[in-house]
Amino acid sequence: MTIRNSLAAIHPLIAARRSPRAFDPARPVSDEAVYAMLEAARWAPSAFNSQPWRFIVGRKGDETYARILDALSEGNRVWARNASLLILTVAQEHGEHGPLRYAWHDLGLATAQLILQVMALGLYAHPMAGFSKDAARDAFGIPVDFAPVAVVAVGYLGDAADLPEALREREDAPRSRRSLSETAFQGTWGHPAVL
Ligand SMILES: Cc1cc2nc3c(=O)[nH]c(=O)nc-3n(C[C@H](O)[C@H](O)[C@H](O)COP(=O)(O)O)c2cc1C
Repeated sequence: MTIRNSLAAIHPLIAARRSPRAFDPARPVSDEAVYAMLEAARWAPSAFNSQPWRFIVGRKGDETYARILDALSEGNRVWARNASLLILTVAQEHGEHGPLRYAWHDLGLATAQLILQVMALGLYAHPMAGFSKDAARDAFGIPVDFAPVAVVAVGYLGDAADLPEALREREDAPRSRRSLSETAFQGTWGHPAVL
């Protein structure tokens, strides 16, 4: 794995994380692991502790999994069908006291915690926006105050050789990011933070 422009050592779980498409279709995830990743998400910080996150958990072979898979775009379905879990993430956009303006932010924090716990369990996760929000809403009767946001595929790594050729190339491509100097500023906008 290549991470360009790294200026400092980071936690190995963060460094090793990536969004694979090759999942092992034959290796299920234990109940304990599923609870651990959801529990990790549950303890995320949120604005006013509003906890505006919900997760709909499909396990390969069950009806929930089939419905989430159906909602995926064709390009995602082709590889995501090998994942052991498909988790639909949902943001609560309105609460008792009005709009929850940080709902998507906080759902993202919870999802990041879920993904890191997944890595700690020896699994991998791949988040996706490519799915029909309307189909997901209909499939699960999601109320109007809630928005389907992403689907996270989770499973053990599979063999990249089993992927269609175009996807196989992407699987092996080096990962890259915008440099830190273009990302973290100090003093004025655009002025790189100097440590
Ligand atoms: C909100 C969100 C939506 C994404 N949607 C898709 C998607 O529909 N299909 C896909 O293959 N990857 C999707 N990704 C994965 C990104 O392409 C991936 O995270 C990015 O290229 C960086 O690669 P890495 O996660 O391996 O570091 C999504 C990621 C996020 C966070």
